[in-house]
Amino acid sequence: MKVCTVLNQKGGVGKTTTSANLACVFAERGTRVLLIDLDPQAALTISLGFDPMDFETHMYHVLLRQATLADVAIRTELDNLDLAPTSIDLCGIEAEMIRGGRGSGLTIGWEQILAKAISTLDNHYDVAIIDTPPTFGCLLTNALVAANMALIPGQCHYLSYRALEWLFPILEDIKEVNPNIMVRIVRTMLDKRTLHSREVSEKIVNTYPKLTLDTIIKLSIRAADATLDEKPVVIINPKSDVACNYRQLADELEGVL
Ligand SMILES: Nc1ncnc2c1ncn2[C@@H]1O[C@H](COP(=O)(O)OP(=O)(O)OP(=O)(O)O)[C@@H](O)[C@H]1O
Ligand SMILES: [Mg+2]
Repeated sequence: MKVCTVLNQKGGVGKTTTSANLACVFAERGTRVLLIDLDPQAALTISLGFDPMDFETHMYHVLLRQATLADVAIRTELDNLDLAPTSIDLCGIEAEMIRGGRGSGLTIGWEQILAKAISTLDNHYDVAIIDTPPTFGCLLTNALVAANMALIPGQCHYLSYRALEWLFPILEDIKEVNPNIMVRIVRTMLDKRTLHSREVSEKIVNTYPKLTLDTIIKLSIRAADATLDEKPVVIINPKSDVACNYRQLADELEGVL
Protein backbone atom coordinates (compact mmCIF):
# COMPACT_ATOMS: atom_id res chain seq x y z
CA MET A 1 0.00 0.00 0.00
CA LYS A 2 1.22 3.50 -0.85
CA VAL A 3 0.83 6.14 1.82
CA CYS A 4 0.39 9.82 1.05
CA THR A 5 0.54 12.23 4.00
CA VAL A 6 -0.93 15.66 3.38
CA LEU A 7 0.76 18.23 5.58
CA ASN A 8 1.51 21.87 6.23
CA GLN A 9 2.03 23.60 9.56
CA LYS A 10 0.22 26.56 8.08
CA GLY A 11 -3.51 26.33 8.73
CA GLY A 12 -6.25 26.67 6.15
CA VAL A 13 -4.12 25.94 3.08
CA GLY A 14 -6.26 23.09 1.74
CA LYS A 15 -4.91 19.96 3.47
CA THR A 16 -8.31 18.50 4.29
CA THR A 17 -9.88 19.52 0.97
CA THR A 18 -6.96 17.97 -0.92
CA SER A 19 -7.05 14.74 1.12
CA ALA A 20 -10.79 14.26 0.61
CA ASN A 21 -10.94 15.11 -3.09
CA LEU A 22 -7.85 13.15 -4.04
CA ALA A 23 -9.18 10.12 -2.19
CA CYS A 24 -12.53 10.35 -3.98
CA VAL A 25 -10.91 10.61 -7.41
CA PHE A 26 -8.69 7.59 -6.75
CA ALA A 27 -11.66 5.61 -5.41
CA GLU A 28 -13.79 6.48 -8.44
CA ARG A 29 -11.01 5.09 -10.62
CA GLY A 30 -11.13 1.76 -8.79
CA THR A 31 -8.22 2.26 -6.41
CA ARG A 32 -8.98 0.96 -2.91
CA VAL A 33 -8.44 3.95 -0.63
CA LEU A 34 -8.25 4.35 3.13
CA LEU A 35 -8.58 7.95 4.29
CA ILE A 36 -7.11 8.53 7.74
CA ASP A 37 -8.22 11.56 9.74
CA LEU A 38 -5.36 12.48 12.04
CA ASP A 39 -6.55 15.99 12.90
CA PRO A 40 -8.42 16.43 16.22
CA GLN A 41 -10.58 19.08 14.50
CA ALA A 42 -12.08 16.12 12.58
CA ALA A 43 -12.71 18.30 9.51
CA LEU A 44 -12.09 15.35 7.18
CA THR A 45 -14.52 13.13 9.09
CA ILE A 46 -17.14 15.91 8.94
CA SER A 47 -16.51 16.73 5.30
CA LEU A 48 -17.37 13.15 4.39
CA GLY A 49 -20.72 13.51 6.12
CA PHE A 50 -20.00 11.84 9.47
CA ASP A 51 -20.44 13.15 13.01
CA PRO A 52 -17.22 12.62 15.00
CA MET A 53 -19.33 12.20 18.16
CA ASP A 54 -20.91 9.06 16.73
CA PHE A 55 -17.82 6.86 16.96
CA GLU A 56 -16.93 4.79 20.00
CA THR A 57 -13.57 3.83 18.56
CA HIS A 58 -11.49 5.95 16.22
CA MET A 59 -7.91 6.99 15.52
CA TYR A 60 -7.28 7.84 19.19
CA HIS A 61 -7.70 4.16 20.05
CA VAL A 62 -5.54 3.04 17.13
CA LEU A 63 -2.69 5.30 18.24
CA LEU A 64 -2.94 4.01 21.79
CA ARG A 65 -3.00 0.47 20.39
CA GLN A 66 -6.41 -0.21 21.91
CA ALA A 67 -7.96 -0.89 18.48
CA THR A 68 -6.73 -1.83 15.02
CA LEU A 69 -7.23 0.28 11.91
CA ALA A 70 -9.52 -2.46 10.60
CA ASP A 71 -11.65 -2.06 13.77
CA VAL A 72 -12.20 1.65 13.24
CA ALA A 73 -12.38 1.91 9.42
CA ILE A 74 -15.88 2.59 8.12
CA ARG A 75 -17.38 2.45 4.64
CA THR A 76 -18.26 5.73 2.97
CA GLU A 77 -20.89 6.48 0.33
CA LEU A 78 -18.29 5.84 -2.33
CA ASP A 79 -17.25 2.34 -3.40
CA ASN A 80 -13.56 1.70 -2.69
CA LEU A 81 -13.35 4.51 -0.12
CA ASP A 82 -13.12 3.82 3.62
CA LEU A 83 -12.47 6.30 6.39
CA ALA A 84 -10.62 5.91 9.68
CA PRO A 85 -12.40 8.70 11.59
CA THR A 86 -11.23 10.81 14.47
CA SER A 87 -12.67 12.82 17.32
CA ILE A 88 -11.64 15.71 19.54
CA ASP A 89 -10.18 13.09 21.95
CA LEU A 90 -7.14 13.11 19.69
CA CYS A 91 -6.25 16.52 21.18
CA GLY A 92 -4.78 14.97 24.30
CA ILE A 93 -2.99 12.13 22.65
CA GLU A 94 0.50 13.58 22.29
CA ALA A 95 1.46 13.05 25.94
CA GLU A 96 -0.45 9.78 26.22
CA MET A 97 1.32 8.25 23.23
CA ILE A 98 4.75 8.89 24.64
CA ARG A 99 3.84 8.01 28.22
CA GLY A 100 2.63 4.59 27.13
CA GLY A 101 1.09 2.08 29.46
CA ARG A 102 2.52 -1.37 28.99
CA GLY A 103 4.68 -1.56 32.08
CA SER A 104 7.78 0.41 31.19
CA GLY A 105 5.97 3.73 31.50
CA LEU A 106 7.27 4.65 28.06
CA THR A 107 6.01 3.78 24.62
CA ILE A 108 8.99 2.47 22.74
CA GLY A 109 8.74 3.37 19.07
CA TRP A 110 5.74 5.69 19.45
CA GLU A 111 6.59 7.30 16.11
CA GLN A 112 6.09 3.94 14.32
CA ILE A 113 2.63 3.15 15.69
CA LEU A 114 0.69 4.40 12.66
CA ALA A 115 3.11 2.87 10.15
CA LYS A 116 2.69 -0.52 11.81
CA ALA A 117 -1.09 -0.16 11.95
CA ILE A 118 -1.20 0.68 8.23
CA SER A 119 1.06 -2.22 7.29
CA THR A 120 -1.49 -4.68 8.71
CA LEU A 121 -3.91 -3.58 5.97
CA ASP A 122 -1.50 -3.94 3.08
CA ASN A 123 -3.76 -6.41 1.27
CA HIS A 124 -6.95 -4.42 1.84
CA TYR A 125 -6.10 -1.05 0.31
CA ASP A 126 -3.93 0.29 -2.50
CA VAL A 127 -3.50 3.79 -1.09
CA ALA A 128 -3.82 5.45 2.31
CA ILE A 129 -4.20 9.23 2.44
CA ILE A 130 -3.58 10.88 5.81
CA ASP A 131 -4.93 14.33 6.68
CA THR A 132 -2.87 15.98 9.40
CA PRO A 133 -3.24 18.90 11.83
CA PRO A 134 -1.49 22.23 11.27
CA THR A 135 0.99 21.56 14.06
CA PHE A 136 4.17 19.56 14.37
CA GLY A 137 4.04 16.86 17.04
CA CYS A 138 3.46 13.15 17.59
CA LEU A 139 0.56 12.97 15.14
CA LEU A 140 2.40 14.51 12.21
CA THR A 141 5.56 12.56 13.04
CA ASN A 142 3.62 9.28 12.93
CA ALA A 143 2.02 10.29 9.63
CA LEU A 144 5.37 11.15 8.06
CA VAL A 145 7.15 8.05 9.31
CA ALA A 146 4.38 6.00 7.63
CA ALA A 147 4.49 7.91 4.33
CA ASN A 148 5.84 7.20 0.86
CA MET A 149 4.92 10.74 -0.07
CA ALA A 150 4.65 14.00 1.82
CA LEU A 151 2.20 16.12 -0.17
CA ILE A 152 2.31 19.78 0.82
CA PRO A 153 -0.56 22.03 -0.23
CA GLY A 154 1.03 25.44 -0.75
CA GLN A 155 -1.57 28.18 -0.82
CA CYS A 156 -0.84 30.89 -3.38
CA HIS A 157 -0.49 33.54 -0.72
CA TYR A 158 2.77 35.18 0.35
CA LEU A 159 2.68 34.21 4.04
CA SER A 160 1.85 30.63 3.11
CA TYR A 161 4.79 30.65 0.72
CA ARG A 162 7.07 31.86 3.52
CA ALA A 163 5.75 29.13 5.83
CA LEU A 164 6.87 26.41 3.38
CA GLU A 165 10.54 26.86 4.29
CA TRP A 166 9.89 25.74 7.89
CA LEU A 167 8.75 22.32 6.72
CA PHE A 168 12.05 21.26 5.23
CA PRO A 169 14.07 20.90 8.47
CA ILE A 170 11.25 18.70 9.80
CA LEU A 171 11.30 16.57 6.67
CA GLU A 172 15.09 16.23 6.93
CA ASP A 173 14.67 14.84 10.47
CA ILE A 174 12.02 12.41 9.24
CA LYS A 175 14.40 11.16 6.53
CA GLU A 176 16.62 9.74 9.27
CA VAL A 177 13.93 7.11 9.91
CA ASN A 178 12.14 7.21 6.55
CA PRO A 179 14.89 7.97 4.00
CA ASN A 180 12.79 7.24 0.91
CA ILE A 181 9.97 9.67 1.58
CA MET A 182 9.15 11.74 -1.52
CA VAL A 183 8.14 15.35 -1.15
CA ARG A 184 5.82 17.23 -3.49
CA ILE A 185 4.13 20.62 -3.34
CA VAL A 186 0.74 21.27 -4.88
CA ARG A 187 -0.21 24.89 -5.26
CA THR A 188 -3.70 25.62 -3.95
CA MET A 189 -6.27 28.41 -4.03
CA LEU A 190 -4.71 30.23 -6.97
CA ASP A 191 -6.75 33.34 -7.69
CA LYS A 192 -5.85 34.12 -11.28
CA ARG A 193 -7.47 37.55 -11.02
CA THR A 194 -4.84 38.84 -8.60
CA LEU A 195 -1.20 39.60 -9.33
CA HIS A 196 -0.33 38.62 -5.75
CA SER A 197 -1.66 35.10 -6.20
CA ARG A 198 -0.03 34.63 -9.63
CA GLU A 199 3.31 35.96 -8.37
CA VAL A 200 3.31 33.66 -5.36
CA SER A 201 2.47 30.70 -7.59
CA GLU A 202 5.59 31.53 -9.65
CA LYS A 203 7.69 32.01 -6.51
CA ILE A 204 6.76 28.53 -5.30
CA VAL A 205 7.89 26.93 -8.58
CA ASN A 206 11.05 29.01 -8.77
CA THR A 207 12.03 28.23 -5.16
CA TYR A 208 11.13 24.53 -5.30
CA PRO A 209 11.41 23.61 -9.01
CA LYS A 210 11.93 19.88 -8.51
CA LEU A 211 9.24 19.49 -5.87
CA THR A 212 6.40 21.54 -7.29
CA LEU A 213 3.75 19.65 -9.25
CA ASP A 214 2.36 21.07 -12.50
CA THR A 215 -1.21 20.87 -11.24
CA ILE A 216 -2.61 24.00 -9.64
CA ILE A 217 -5.81 23.94 -7.60
CA LYS A 218 -7.66 27.16 -8.33
CA LEU A 219 -9.54 29.25 -5.82
CA SER A 220 -13.19 28.34 -6.20
CA ILE A 221 -16.28 29.08 -4.19
CA ARG A 222 -17.46 25.61 -5.27
CA ALA A 223 -14.80 24.00 -3.06
CA ALA A 224 -15.93 25.97 -0.02
CA ASP A 225 -19.64 25.45 -0.85
CA ALA A 226 -19.17 21.69 -0.98
CA THR A 227 -18.45 21.71 2.76
CA LEU A 228 -22.06 22.81 3.37
CA ASP A 229 -23.18 19.53 1.86
CA GLU A 230 -20.48 17.67 3.79
CA LYS A 231 -19.25 16.10 0.58
CA PRO A 232 -16.09 16.71 -1.45
CA VAL A 233 -16.47 18.98 -4.47
CA VAL A 234 -15.51 16.20 -6.93
CA ILE A 235 -18.72 14.42 -5.81
CA ILE A 236 -21.04 17.42 -5.44
CA ASN A 237 -19.86 19.33 -8.47
CA PRO A 238 -17.82 16.99 -10.65
CA LYS A 239 -17.82 19.31 -13.65
CA SER A 240 -16.48 22.35 -11.78
CA ASP A 241 -13.00 23.65 -12.60
CA VAL A 242 -11.76 22.78 -9.14
CA ALA A 243 -12.97 19.19 -9.50
CA CYS A 244 -11.05 19.01 -12.80
CA ASN A 245 -7.97 20.35 -10.98
CA TYR A 246 -8.25 17.52 -8.45
CA ARG A 247 -8.58 14.91 -11.19
CA GLN A 248 -5.46 16.36 -12.82
CA LEU A 249 -3.67 16.13 -9.46
CA ALA A 250 -4.63 12.46 -9.23
CA ASP A 251 -3.27 11.90 -12.78
CA GLU A 252 0.00 13.50 -11.84
CA LEU A 253 0.37 11.62 -8.57
CA GLU A 254 -0.55 8.26 -10.10
CA GLY A 255 2.71 8.51 -12.01
CA VAL A 256 4.77 9.32 -8.93
CA LEU A 257 3.26 7.50 -5.97
N1 LIG B 1 -9.61 25.62 -3.98
C1 LIG B 1 -10.32 26.24 -3.01
N2 LIG B 1 -11.01 27.37 -3.29
C2 LIG B 1 -11.71 28.01 -2.33
N3 LIG B 1 -11.81 27.60 -1.06
C3 LIG B 1 -11.15 26.48 -0.73
C4 LIG B 1 -10.37 25.75 -1.67
N4 LIG B 1 -9.82 24.69 -1.04
C5 LIG B 1 -10.24 24.76 0.24
N5 LIG B 1 -11.04 25.83 0.44
C6 LIG B 1 -11.68 26.26 1.69
O1 LIG B 1 -10.68 26.84 2.50
C7 LIG B 1 -10.87 26.47 3.85
C8 LIG B 1 -9.60 25.76 4.35
O2 LIG B 1 -9.46 24.56 3.61
P1 LIG B 1 -9.03 23.21 4.35
O3 LIG B 1 -9.92 22.98 5.54
O4 LIG B 1 -8.96 22.15 3.34
O5 LIG B 1 -7.59 23.64 4.85
P2 LIG B 1 -6.66 22.89 5.94
O6 LIG B 1 -5.27 23.16 5.53
O7 LIG B 1 -7.09 21.50 6.08
O8 LIG B 1 -7.02 23.70 7.26
P3 LIG B 1 -6.56 23.31 8.76
O9 LIG B 1 -5.15 23.73 8.85
O10 LIG B 1 -7.49 24.12 9.64
O11 LIG B 1 -6.74 21.85 8.91
C9 LIG B 1 -12.11 25.62 3.90
O12 LIG B 1 -13.20 26.42 4.23
C10 LIG B 1 -12.24 25.10 2.48
O13 LIG B 1 -13.58 24.83 2.12
MG1 LIG C 1 -7.61 20.44 7.82
